[in-house]
Amino acid sequence: MRLLPSFSAGLAWALLSVVLGMELSLQESLLLKSLGLSTRPSPKTPVPVPSVLWRIFQKRKTLPSTNKDLADGCRVEEFNVPGNIIRVFTDQGHFIHNGQPQRLLCLQKRLYFNLSVLEESERLTMAQLEIKFSQNSYHASSQGQVFELRLYQTFQMSLRGMSSHEHGRELLVEQSFAQLHKSLLFNLSGVAKGWRTQSRNLGLILEISVSGGDDAAAPRTGRLQSLCTSIDSFVDTSLLVVTLSPQQCKASRRRRSAHYTPVTPSNLCKPRRLYISFSDVGWENWIIAPQGYMANYCLGECPFPLTAELNSTNHAILQTMVHSLDPEGTPQPCCVPVRLSPISILYYDNNDNVVLRHYEDMVVDECGCR
Ligand SMILES: *[C@@H]1O[C@H](CO)[C@@H](O)[C@H](O)[C@H]1NC(C)=O
Ligand SMILES: *[C@@H]1O[C@H](CO)[C@@H](O)[C@H](O)[C@H]1NC(C)=O
Ligand SMILES: *[C@@H]1O[C@H](CO)[C@@H](O)[C@H](O)[C@H]1NC(C)=O
Repeated sequence: MRLLPSFSAGLAWALLSVVLGMELSLQESLLLKSLGLSTRPSPKTPVPVPSVLWRIFQKRKTLPSTNKDLADGCRVEEFNVPGNIIRVFTDQGHFIHNGQPQRLLCLQKRLYFNLSVLEESERLTMAQLEIKFSQNSYHASSQGQVFELRLYQTFQMSLRGMSSHEHGRELLVEQSFAQLHKSLLFNLSGVAKGWRTQSRNLGLILEISVSGGDDAAAPRTGRLQSLCTSIDSFVDTSLLVVTLSPQQCKASRRRRSAHYTPVTPSNLCKPRRLYISFSDVGWENWIIAPQGYMANYCLGECPFPLTAELNSTNHAILQTMVHSLDPEGTPQPCCVPVRLSPISILYYDNNDNVVLRHYEDMVVDECGCR
């Protein structure tokens, strides 16, 4: 993260450029880089923000800043895994129309999640599949029937209409349910890791069938059929992926120098208010939240004698003494951020996935003379 040190200053400059009507593209690409992005995302068909991401975002936003300092930005507490980026991938697979079902197959669907947006350096620490149905539950149990859910990993592209063939796929999950709940979660960490490394990602196949019940074939089939049709209000599947981007984690707790304009002599070193508005830099269409934030900056003098409020080092105290004796030869210490806190940003990436990403050192809390 070589570019991060200039980040707050970079944002300020980007803002200034807008004000001055200057060319934005260079600053913008530097800024995007410091956010870990190569281009400005332009969502085509933005999906609603998954509630789990809103929940985590809101929780982090309301943490008091003292706790923020303690909170580990490189861990997702909610899932108890390492990570600083949470993405929710939408499923891009299609329903498979099956000519001759072997059993009472209610639904057969290919699931495909395009993980190509993950950078090579990101370490995948969690992948969780969610299957959501539009009603709270479907009951199958009254006559002893059960829903059977099977999830396969595909290893071979099959011809159209041949997808139900047993070869070229591996059963990952087989579960029976007396009822289908609104939301089912499956741990796909191992599978998703495989998609990134050895094997091509050919997706998954989801099958839901009904079976069971006691006797006689004909009336039972009718009942099963009607149970089956109740499921076609099947809604959607998504894959939540947590990764750890090491660059952003290494950046934490490093001190960096401030970039500032001339001072008036009476101004002592302290944090100044600076609100960065994402809409002012033209980012409102891909940054979902926050709309902007109080980034602040450090500005002011570090005169002799340095007082405790100026949070100086022994070195800075000596430097002011030398400066007071030899103002030409030795400069004053610099007024720089000594405590910074993180923020989380919720945004759409270029594939219209929703991403919640944690950034260290985005807000200046305290300044000091160094
Ligand atoms: C996955 O997304 C990338 C761009 O992010 C695209 O180039 C690629 O074609 C996509 N793959 C599939 C199979 O849709
Ligand atoms: C998910 O599966 C992986 C192995 O594939 C395992 O290491 C991990 O602990 C599992 N996570 C949970 C929450 O069960
Ligand atoms: C120095 O740190 C203290 C807390 O440790 C803080 O209250 C004060 O505002 C800081 N000084 C400056 C100039 O930021």
